[in-house]
Amino acid sequence: MGVPVLFSLEPRSRVEELYDFRGELGELVDVYNSGRVAVVLGLRRMGKSSLVRSFLNSYGIPHVMIDVRRIIINEGRVSVRGFFNELSRALGDFLERNEDFRGRLVRYLSRIRGVSVSLSPPSVSLSWGRANRVPLTELLNAINEVAEDLGRKVVLAIDEAQELRGIGLSIPTLVAYIYDNLGSVVTIITGSQVGLMYDVLGLYEPDSPLYGRVV
Ligand SMILES: Nc1ncnc2c1ncn2[C@@H]1O[C@H](COP(=O)(O)OP(=O)(O)O)[C@@H](O)[C@H]1O
Ligand SMILES: [Mg+2]
Repeated sequence: MGVPVLFSLEPRSRVEELYDFRGELGELVDVYNSGRVAVVLGLRRMGKSSLVRSFLNSYGIPHVMIDVRRIIINEGRVSVRGFFNELSRALGDFLERNEDFRGRLVRYLSRIRGVSVSLSPPSVSLSWGRANRVPLTELLNAINEVAEDLGRKVVLAIDEAQELRGIGLSIPTLVAYIYDNLGSVVTIITGSQVGLMYDVLGLYEPDSPLYGRVV
């Protein structure tokens, strides 16, 4: 006789598997519809990743999911190279799952310096070296353009974003850039070290690009 598994170690990825969180799901839906920025904060193992993944998968929302823990697992620590490798993987995954975006996005991406794309199987490779690093803004612009053409909205999700501190990537500037310029990209950030996240996002500082913008 088997023992029913009540808790798997994996984050849940479907709304039907999620207990509670109905209110939080509703808030994510609102943020998505209104194109704002969502920051999901809470202690470890409270279900942040499950909430975000279930939301994205169950509502069929096209998303680029950057899991910063995966960088640490694969590379031992967070580095610029690790970040770009994870982003390459996330973009390849996006192309694989979103056939409607595929042709157009591949055309846009292949025009960007430092990006190489192949179609079968869909995969993306990004240069990360200092001399020819792919401009992140152009990658995001490409996604935004295609989403706009298709009348869709894409979520950029960064899970455990506090771990990105120290590689010289300013999350507040990135998020503010998206918020101000890319109407078809919605950002969802999660973090488990709440105090750190406030620092990382600059939420205490009135001159932070994000001050007053985040919900
Ligand atoms: N609302 C929920 N319903 C069912 N299982 C949950 C729920 N929230 C979390 N879990 C389970 O708890 C564990 C931790 O969830 P996870 O999403 O990884 O948390 P976090 O990202 O906050 O660290 C996982 O095993 C996940 O399957
Ligand atoms: Mg998590």
